[in-house]
Amino acid sequence: MTLLEQIDTNRLPNHIAIIMDGNGRWAKQRGSGRIFGHQHGVDSVKAVTEGCAELGVKYLTLYAFSTENWQRPQEEVNALMELLLISLEEELPTLMENNIRLLSIGQLERLPEHLQVKMKSCQDKTAGNTGLSLVLALSYSSRWEIANAARDIAAEVAAGKITEKDITPEYFEQHLTTAHIPDPELMIRTSGELRISNFLLWQLAYTELYFSELNWPDFRKEELYKAIVEFQGRERRFGKISEQLEKNE
Ligand code: FPP
Repeated sequence: MTLLEQIDTNRLPNHIAIIMDGNGRWAKQRGSGRIFGHQHGVDSVKAVTEGCAELGVKYLTLYAFSTENWQRPQEEVNALMELLLISLEEELPTLMENNIRLLSIGQLERLPEHLQVKMKSCQDKTAGNTGLSLVLALSYSSRWEIANAARDIAAEVAAGKITEKDITPEYFEQHLTTAHIPDPELMIRTSGELRISNFLLWQLAYTELYFSELNWPDFRKEELYKAIVEFQGRERRFGKISEQLEKNE
């Protein structure tokens, strides 16, 4: 049986989040510069997005640029911004054809103006699409997001809109940038690194983690299928015991 045939489409992870790592190392192994790796990383973005859309996964979040990534050499930051812009321009027709809705999380106001405009127009144009929601995390970091939510809630308390007793986990998560997005059920990180790196710290509380040894430019559809097959083989207990799950308690 192929990997694709092993996937039970009735038990797909509703939301897959990916830390796309290893572009630089992939390029270095080929005697090329880091930007070459990012260019090939875009092909993996296309393949994995297509794979998720074909299977019927509802949300795919890609960690495309972290807050910490602003500290990289200016040349690399510029190249990544350019790649994002070109990809959005080139892929908009494919997003429309495949009924994919584009969303974003992060400090978008820190991005170059022309990229902000492009993101907004792609989001507006795809807003009515009902298939896969592709969420790009851009200038995103989880500690920034959590601190931001805490600040907003503190302001609500100070203004007398709510009292501290109203602050529940459910209320808190409505103030995160992912307020209308379900938590990921599967988080994939490539390149063999075993870290979360400031990505969706709140939202990953019960997420299954999957680490691939492959660098991101080598992670294509078959690898996605492999991760989903492994996910489907795991038992998710959410703090309960197996017997309770069997009885549907
Ligand atoms: C991590 O590899 C990758 C990134 C920081 C950027 C990912 C961006 C893309 C794949 C291109 C644009 C994305 C979209 C959504 C079109 P790394 O540079 O940290 O690799 P290294 O750890 O080997 O140095």
